[in-house]
Amino acid sequence: MKKHLANIFDPKSGNTVMFAFDHGYFMGSTAGLERLDIVIPKLLPYVDCLMGTRGALRTCVPADNRKAIALRVSSGSSMLNEDLSHEVVAVDIEDSIRMNADCMAVQTFIGADGQLSSIDNLSRVINAGFRYSIPTLGVVAVGKDMERTDRFFKLATRIVAEMGVQLVKTYYCDNFEEIVAACPVPIVVAGGKKLPEREALNLAYKSIQGGARGLDMGRNIFQSDHSVEMVQAIRKIVHEGYTDQQAWEFFEDLTH
Ligand code: 5RP
Repeated sequence: MKKHLANIFDPKSGNTVMFAFDHGYFMGSTAGLERLDIVIPKLLPYVDCLMGTRGALRTCVPADNRKAIALRVSSGSSMLNEDLSHEVVAVDIEDSIRMNADCMAVQTFIGADGQLSSIDNLSRVINAGFRYSIPTLGVVAVGKDMERTDRFFKLATRIVAEMGVQLVKTYYCDNFEEIVAACPVPIVVAGGKKLPEREALNLAYKSIQGGARGLDMGRNIFQSDHSVEMVQAIRKIVHEGYTDQQAWEFFEDLTH
């Protein structure tokens, strides 16, 4: 278990840059991810961990890849559903082992219609993970009608942590330090919808300052016109203690 976590979190900084490209599992072909086979190899050198579905990892990540793998194992809804909160566990533990997954990601829908089944999914994956020493990443989902307050994130991250996951993915919010302090396992922050690069760097900086142990960023990297430069700037914040201003200047130097 520790070895897997050490693959995900850089031994020097203790933090991680996860690159999330699992969006296709419910969004289909997302803007910027039309050609996974081109996008992933381009960004691979600059990330610590690849977060994707079994299909994307099997087809578009070279088998000799040495980066950590966060394998999305829950699935079951699509953009065509009104309610996205009903999922199943779609990947057997044997295949997670076969794919050298360093953690298995499960979406949890606290407060939504599918809460019970998503907690059931999460528990099954955690139990299997303990049998074979593979960490589970509990993903805090936010639905269309679900609140995105610090009160909600404090509740949801804590519930997910208490289920026994080894790491949690959530969103940045006000009083983020309190969410981190009340969560007994490391938190990584999702990027969310595409922002102007400078704002995305600010989000990354605030997350790390607030105690996040990394970013699990997708659209703010792969939808940038300068995705390679963007991920390098994010790295500076996550691993080298850059401020958002320093990272922005670094980004500007690379792009001009
Ligand atoms: C989708 C996910 C994504 O991996 C997560 O939202 C990170 O991507 P982005 O930074 O684009 O939000 O879990 O359910």
